Amino acid sequence: MVKVIFLEADGTRREVDAPAGEPLMFAARDAGVEGIIAECGGSAMCATCHCYLLEGGAGAAPPQAAEADTIEFMAHEPQENSRLTCQLEVTEALEGAVFQVATGR
Ligand code: FES
Repeated sequence: MVKVIFLEADGTRREVDAPAGEPLMFAARDAGVEGIIAECGGSAMCATCHCYLLEGGAGAAPPQAAEADTIEFMAHEPQENSRLTCQLEVTEALEGAVFQVATGR
């Protein structure tokens, strides 16, 4: 398990134990992180799993084309540190990483 921290819109800090090798979205959704809706089920089509990577995760794989396109065209207020958590595989590189759940859809 890899410990990842999510900050919800109201400032609530949620520590999630995420299984390595799976998309981060599933661990966040299963843990009930507020704001991770994942309408498309993890197909990079909806951007309702959008988060900002605030700290850590430097060794994580960068966004691929499908993720980058959905962030650009679908995400509310995209930033340089935007990630679709459904496209981000959990690896040891995410240990202790902090994500702010994006608001606005
Ligand atoms: S769950 Fe839809 S883009 Fe991630």
